[in-house]
Amino acid sequence: MTESLTVRDNRTGQEYDVPIADGAIKAADLGKIKASDDSPGLAVYDPGFVNTASCRSSVTYIDGEKGILEYRGYPIEQLAEKSNFLEVAYLLINGSLPTKAEYEAWVHEITYHTFVHENVKSLMQGFRYDAHPMGMLMSSVGALSTFYPDAANIGDAENRHMQIVRMIAKMPTLGAWSFRHAQGKPYVYPDNDLSYTANFLSMLFKMSESKYEADERLVKALDVLLILHADHEQNCSTNAVRSVGSSQVDPYSAVAAGIGALYGPLHGGANEAVLRMLKRIGTKENIPAFIEGVKNGDEKLMGFGHRVYKNYDPRAKIIKKACDDVFEVTGVNPLLEIAQELEKIALEDEYFVKRKLYPNVDFYSGLIYEALQFPPEMFTVLFAIGRTPGWLAQWNELVQDKEQKIARPKQIYTGDRTLDFVPASERWA
Ligand code: ACO
Repeated sequence: MTESLTVRDNRTGQEYDVPIADGAIKAADLGKIKASDDSPGLAVYDPGFVNTASCRSSVTYIDGEKGILEYRGYPIEQLAEKSNFLEVAYLLINGSLPTKAEYEAWVHEITYHTFVHENVKSLMQGFRYDAHPMGMLMSSVGALSTFYPDAANIGDAENRHMQIVRMIAKMPTLGAWSFRHAQGKPYVYPDNDLSYTANFLSMLFKMSESKYEADERLVKALDVLLILHADHEQNCSTNAVRSVGSSQVDPYSAVAAGIGALYGPLHGGANEAVLRMLKRIGTKENIPAFIEGVKNGDEKLMGFGHRVYKNYDPRAKIIKKACDDVFEVTGVNPLLEIAQELEKIALEDEYFVKRKLYPNVDFYSGLIYEALQFPPEMFTVLFAIGRTPGWLAQWNELVQDKEQKIARPKQIYTGDRTLDFVPASERWA
């Protein structure tokens, strides 16, 4: 049976059959519905794209009701436990897991592209002493397009691969340097003997020692956090990458746009708000009064609730476990006790149960980042480094998708029409 939707336009009495494929109708098919031959076709009004699919994608699957997240079909829980960030990046970009030879070649390529041109360093050093690291990251990634003008040749698969490698490789260098800059510390060059994540920690925290040796448990915890952030289908920043990329600009410019989107507090900044909330609550004794405040609508329980997940965010479960590993090394963050108690009370309280409000990825991640000595403004930079393979996988998919077009939404015009322009000399006379 062909699936279709029968629509009756009550303006004209005419009926239309609109085909349904993959649970969706084509907005262009609605455009055929017209009040008269010379009137515009019916459009869909959807601010924030809350019910509009912008693409077909085989990168990431989410079932928010069931709390499922899969990259290329692999459950996030298994990837976080048994894989590592670079292997996950390979999976996202290439669509399948690497053979041993492919993995080794991939790790080698990424490792040997971690350095940036010295002029990128000079560019970053030109920022004010207190520049936000996300602003620095966004600008320096955008600047890379001027260092690699060949990146504009997006039709060539080999060329795309080169830029993808460069970007995944250089992102920790740029992120770490943004962090060192605000502290007035010298930028640390990459150490190609170290793993991706250990090298990142070295560039962040190395001082005068000849070799920075991070605790393996911290390396693993940070690697897991990067995996958890690696993709999340058509979120705000990915949509920005795709939208800008649809103009066929180079991928550095498209990813810089994604970093800009992630910078916003509604997207990348919630974990910082969780930390502030936990500090404000201060002690376990204050939790019942706080929960009452949330239920009265005076407060929001930050780190709870999600647009897509109406169940426990699968990433939050994994992060909770990573907390234990990190605190074993750094000592327990006293805020953890408050977070756990808050979660316990909220999960049993009817207000939260009825609204399907569960901890999201940000509820525990800020606690780990703080324990790892990151200031709050670095939290989003870590998110950006983790999300880079996802942005690039989505961009790579976009540029090869024959159904895609330049992103150019419609509008419903609400302004004036056909006014007569009177020159300033007459208006002001
Ligand atoms: N605390 C208290 N009540 C909440 C919360 C919360 N954190 N989240 C939702 N609610 C309530 C709303 O007040 C609403 O109640 P009502 O039906 O009585 O009006 C109901 O739950 C539904 O909430 P909406 O706001 O409609 O849900 P939406 O999908 O639009 O919002 C969002 C999702 C923005 C994440 C929201 O849950 C929120 O603000 N959470 C706190 C901020 C946060 O943790 N953001 C991080 C998200 S994860 C990420 O971006 C990486």
